[in-house]
Amino acid sequence: MAFNLRNRSLLNMQDFTPRDIRFLLDLAAELKRAKYAGNEVPRLRGKNVALIFEKTSTRTRCAFEVAVHDQGGHVTYIDSSSSQLGRKESLKDTARVLGRLYDGIEYRGFHQSVVEDLAAYSHVPVWNGLTDEFHPTQVLADLLTMQEFGEKPLHELSFCYLGDARFNMGNSLLVGGAQMGMDVRIAAPRELWPHDELVEEMRHLAERTGARLTLTDEPYEAVSGADFVYTDVWVSMGEPVDTWRQRIDLLLPYQANARLMQATGKPRTRFMHCLPAYHNLETETARMIHERFDLSELEVSDEVFESNASIVFSQAENRMHTIKAVLVATLA
Ligand code: CP
Ligand code: NVA
Repeated sequence: MAFNLRNRSLLNMQDFTPRDIRFLLDLAAELKRAKYAGNEVPRLRGKNVALIFEKTSTRTRCAFEVAVHDQGGHVTYIDSSSSQLGRKESLKDTARVLGRLYDGIEYRGFHQSVVEDLAAYSHVPVWNGLTDEFHPTQVLADLLTMQEFGEKPLHELSFCYLGDARFNMGNSLLVGGAQMGMDVRIAAPRELWPHDELVEEMRHLAERTGARLTLTDEPYEAVSGADFVYTDVWVSMGEPVDTWRQRIDLLLPYQANARLMQATGKPRTRFMHCLPAYHNLETETARMIHERFDLSELEVSDEVFESNASIVFSQAENRMHTIKAVLVATLA
């Protein structure tokens, strides 16, 4: 390995430098090739990893489990309904217990301060598997996917994130794109832009990395010439159900549909989404929204989701390869 990320936590994309991120993306590509070729070398033998989920998950949980298993280690899945966490034992005490038993801990939950406390009290590497504020392992997968499909270095690529930009995905993509010197466009109503403080910090960073940052409430202008159009759900895990009405009113003009994809002016623009997505009526939530608001597709139309431009399942696969790279780099 080129250099050492051993024992480091990943709580936020800013924990890693652009050089660290490039290293992790190269390592992920190398691990992906090795898995496909059937010659992966297990570097996590004898390692035990705890996976704490205070919110539900399909991709993140499975990506961590498969990554650790492929590398010869073991995982324990812990949620708040089947453990003492939260109701009978504080996070601080749980952190000190798990730190004695495990080599590293993944955490998904609500506040960023919780994952920070976990790292402070457990004394082992902690990886943020999503908080309200950040979703760094998702962005690593997104950067690898953009690199693969963009066929250019990241600093020559552009993406436009549309939707709720003041939550985990908007924040993390802004940070990741600024770090890698990309052309980053955020299209959202002003009240859903990332916090001014974060934007200011990223503008300073962009001066060093060469990133171009655009925040706008004009979705059709924002996507012009973009290599990637990216969106996320309009109401995130943990937000009250009655938020839907306000978000639908605010975000319907930002829906990723065929007209928006055409506005890129590029036939090769790809569509990205961290998933899960509301693009049809095959989920309980989507049917509830349909009943209340008479909409059968939300942040993305079914047409775009199912089109050849859509690379959402490659993104999902890359969650595993990039998480594996983080685990190998920080634990092996
Ligand atoms: N993208 C993502 O984090 O998916 P899950 O919620 O299924 O883990
Ligand atoms: N913003 C979404 C991301 C899911 C991966 C949520 O927090 O629910």
